[in-house]
This record gives sequence, C-alpha cells and structure tokens, in this order.
Amino acid sequence: MDLKSEILKLKKEKDILILAHNYQLPEVQDIADYVGDSLGLSRQAAKTTQKTILFCGVHFMAETAAITCQDKKVLIPDLAAGCSLSDTITADQLRKWKSEHLGAITVGYVNTTAEVKSELDYCCTSSNAVNVVKSIPENKEILFLPDMFLGSYVAKMTNRNNMFIWAGECHVHAGIRSQDVQEKLNQYANAEFLIHPECSCTSSVMYDVASGDYGNRQVQILSTEGMMNRAKDSSSKKFVVATETGILYRMRKQNPDKEFIPISENAICKYMKMITLDKVYASLKEEKYEVKVPKNIAQKAQLAIERMLAIS
Ligand code: 13P
Ligand code: SF4
Repeated sequence: MDLKSEILKLKKEKDILILAHNYQLPEVQDIADYVGDSLGLSRQAAKTTQKTILFCGVHFMAETAAITCQDKKVLIPDLAAGCSLSDTITADQLRKWKSEHLGAITVGYVNTTAEVKSELDYCCTSSNAVNVVKSIPENKEILFLPDMFLGSYVAKMTNRNNMFIWAGECHVHAGIRSQDVQEKLNQYANAEFLIHPECSCTSSVMYDVASGDYGNRQVQILSTEGMMNRAKDSSSKKFVVATETGILYRMRKQNPDKEFIPISENAICKYMKMITLDKVYASLKEEKYEVKVPKNIAQKAQLAIERMLAIS
C-alpha cells in the first residue's frame, strides 16, 4: 500500500485538516496541509471550518487546538507524544507559586498542559513571548513559566527586573551548549546563526552579541517559523541552525540554493518523532486518538490562549 496516497485520499474523503509542527518527520510534513510553529498551528486550528483536525505534533499542541476549537474533533496519532518541558510544572505547583506572589500576572509558554493553562493570565509562544510581556504594565510582577532560557531571554529583551522565572527546560534545547556554538562559530566563519530561545546557550549568545564579540556575524534568536522566514529572506547562503533537527528538512526544501548546518546532530525530540506515517494513517482511518479537555478547564484556559493569538 502506498501510505502517502492513502493518507491524502482519506483526508480528502473525510475532510480532515492535517497540521504538522516544523520538527515532524519529513514524510509527515509532506502530507500536512500546513507546517509551522506553535503559534502558526494554533492560528490555523482556530480559523479552520473543517470539523476534524489531525495534529501531528506533541500532546500540548493538540490540547491547545481542542481548547480553541471546542466544537471540533482534535486527533493525535500517538497519545504518548509528550513534552519534557511541559512536564516541568503541574497545575498544583503553579497554584502554590501564585499564592506566594499574590497580584502577579502569570505568563505561560504554550508548552504546558491544559490544566496549567487554565491557571494563566496569558499564554505565549517563542514567537510572541517578548510582545506578550511588553503588553503588561511595567509595575506588575510577572511569573513566567516554564522555560527558564526563554524566560531570561524575554526578561533581557523587555528590560524587566520584576519577572520571576520557573526553572524548567526542554531536554533537547538545554542540551545545545555554548561550546557547541563556539565550535560551529569557529568552523563556519561565514555562516549566519539561527538560535531558538529555548536553547541554554541563548543568554550567553545575547551577551556576546551585545558585547560585540560576534563582530559583523548575523545572529538571530527566533521561533521555528521565524527561522524559516529568516532563511528565506536573508541574503546569507550558509546557516548554522540551533534547534531540533526536524526543521532542516523544510529549510532545505524551501531554499535549495542555501546550506543549513545543524548545531548538533543530537538535537532530536523523541516525542515529535513518535508521529509516523503508519500512525497518521491509523489515526485518520479510525479517527483516533481524540484529545479532549474537560469543559471547565477549557473555558478557563481559553482566555489566556485568545490573548496569545491576539498578539503577534
Ligand atoms: P516553536 O513555537 O518555535 O515552534 O517551538 C515549539 C517547541 O516545542 C520548541 O521546542
Ligand atoms: Fe517539548 Fe523540547 Fe520536544 Fe519542543 S523539542 S516538544 S519543548 S521536548
């Protein structure tokens, strides 16, 4: 059986929208209607008129779609596709943290469970975290969670000293160290650097850029879709890419005249790779596994997500 054509046929027959994150396997990206970052995928889910969405990504992304589209069916091909970053904070831990900072505004990365989102004032993604924080009055304390590297990046970009940051991290991005950056900087003298704000090297790279240590070299700290746009628009021909390696497939496909070098071949998210073509086929055929969020949690989480979708 030609799995790809069967999937394309089935999704047309059943009128199902397939969304895939930039870190998905190449063959999964190829059968999707839309490939993008967390914010772009949430926006696509929110605006579709199709009744069923098949989410090729990790569980919190499908949950976010289920919250924004409560009248739709949201499927994920493997319920075990989790996220080590979203696992770093529970709703109970957040409630306790909030009780220690009464009056503070809570800003949570989209990489959180629905129950955690139901406790937030604002949700954000890597592409709009800075603007979300900028939209909050300067005199208000902020609790930012759960990614400490994205949090310290946002605090620096917004010049805030009243932001408390949860000590969570993504195992894939935390594994990209300053020494990986240094090695690739030395090896690829003319390459532009694209860095995801979840990387543990982000703060030190920002410091080095500010101190002029990188001279004229282009260094950009961007979400995965921001990286895609930069790869297309920049006049550079060579890029070192500091994020999960799944994005390289789309970068190379869309920019065949440019060269993309992963900062580390080991930057692989095992959860993203759980979504295989076989599982996508089974998911479409049997309409499994439905991601459901209890109504009371979805209603509370919706406001924080709507605020995220409103800020670009
Ligand atoms: P983006 O929103 O930049 O795609 O990031 C999502 C994610 O899970 C990063 O690890
Ligand atoms: Fe979560 Fe990290 Fe995988 Fe992104 S790369 S889904 S943050 S574990």
